[in-house]
Amino acid sequence: MTKLMAQTQPHFLILTFPTQGHINPAFQFAKRLTRLGVKVTFATTVSAFNKINKVGKIPECFSFAVFSDGYDDGFKRGIDDTATFLTQFKERGTQSLKETILSNAENGTPVTCLVYTLMLPWAATVAREGNVPSALLWIQPASVLRVYYYYFNGYDKLIGEDCGEPSWSIELPGLPRLKSHDLPSFCQPSNPYNFALPLFKEQLDMLELEEKPMIFVNTFDALEEEALKEIDGKLKMVAVGPLIPSAFLDGKDPSDKSFGGDLFAAPKDYVGWMDTKPEGSIVYISFGSIIMLSKKQKEAMACGLLASRRPFLWVIRDQDGEEKEEEEEEISCMKELKELGLIVPWCSQLEVLSHPSLGCFVTHCGWNSSLESIACGVPVVAFPHWTDQSTNAKLIEDVWGTGVRVSANEDGVVEGEEISRCVEKVMGRHEKGEKMRKNAKKWKDLAREVTKEGGSSYMNLKTFVEEIDRSSI
Ligand code: UDX
Repeated sequence: MTKLMAQTQPHFLILTFPTQGHINPAFQFAKRLTRLGVKVTFATTVSAFNKINKVGKIPECFSFAVFSDGYDDGFKRGIDDTATFLTQFKERGTQSLKETILSNAENGTPVTCLVYTLMLPWAATVAREGNVPSALLWIQPASVLRVYYYYFNGYDKLIGEDCGEPSWSIELPGLPRLKSHDLPSFCQPSNPYNFALPLFKEQLDMLELEEKPMIFVNTFDALEEEALKEIDGKLKMVAVGPLIPSAFLDGKDPSDKSFGGDLFAAPKDYVGWMDTKPEGSIVYISFGSIIMLSKKQKEAMACGLLASRRPFLWVIRDQDGEEKEEEEEEISCMKELKELGLIVPWCSQLEVLSHPSLGCFVTHCGWNSSLESIACGVPVVAFPHWTDQSTNAKLIEDVWGTGVRVSANEDGVVEGEEISRCVEKVMGRHEKGEKMRKNAKKWKDLAREVTKEGGSSYMNLKTFVEEIDRSSI
């Protein structure tokens, strides 16, 4: 009986890129699967696993297949070479995935589906060769996937030729009209990251090899209705988001109140400080897990915050790799800043976003941060830097109406005045601010509906699991 149960239970193997923006939604995806009765094995690197083990709270509902990518002490940005890392990750990851699939087959717990996040096209190859169904977990919005699809299917010339011109814009099916600065940075002529586009292309090419390619998207139907429509009868996207812990959404599992996969440690004192501030008064500033602001930009941010005269919580991460700089010396007006707000190296972002004293989020528009602001009903100042963030900022400002986007000066710096102007636009007691706050509340309510039992994202995932279950019998 036990053996039969083990053989018939669906078993998903999930592989992510070892960065926070991939691990968080993938962990949440894994937790949702286990609630539907699926066995989950999570494949990740030694360095990510060790960090999570140290600062995160590893979910007990799934197990791990840990492998070395050759960077067991972690990839050091600015020191290690990205191309070499990607090659190593591919070689060692391929080997590890194959071994995991094989050993599970031998142990009577065959992998019935392999799910992988972005920039891992080789995972799809492993699945094909091992005859295991696979699915891509797209951790950016459906709109961005559409841009890449059209870019690789004839629009690259159109985008490349004169896209730098100020009056340039393009209409792509299912998307709002996009100007040059709304495109993902990798599609812009100024993109310096040569490794990115070929990887995205390979990723989409791999999908086209499948008879029925499967793409899960961390979004929800109402948020990206048009963008989620099937593309050219070839790519079908299934919305399963927001992939956010239950306590911040449907509340079904109040104990599920963190992703569990933090790679950075947070201090303990900031929530108590937030408790002392009036409702809707705090500005939260965070640029995710990768971007580091230049010294000039930090100074400008500090000036903007001082000019706003509002309490703030600002996440400035320690540089991973290079020698740690002394932040306190680096920003010249630190003393005045400290009278107004708090600077922390990391925090539980969802706890901050859902705190009643929060009024506005100054964000780089990473897709997780964007979705989390939507799920918590927080209006934003959109300050995109690279990859999908400029497209996300466009959606935030012009489609969902939940924020305002900053403008940079000729040197690419967003000046203090501009920051305080945008914060005022979002938080001020005037019609435009009221409208953004109202929109944010509307999206929050919708985000909560979709993950409840019977909601669209819940049903989309459940249907897929049932299909996999049927096909693996
Ligand atoms: C990366 C890319 O930069 C982004 O554009 C892409 O959409 C996803 O992958 P990252 O820059 O880390 O992600 O940003 P984001 O997507 O916002 O993910 C950061 C995660 O870290 C969020 O889930 C956020 O809640 C969490 N976080 C961030 C914290 O928990 N605490 C913090 O202090 C900062």
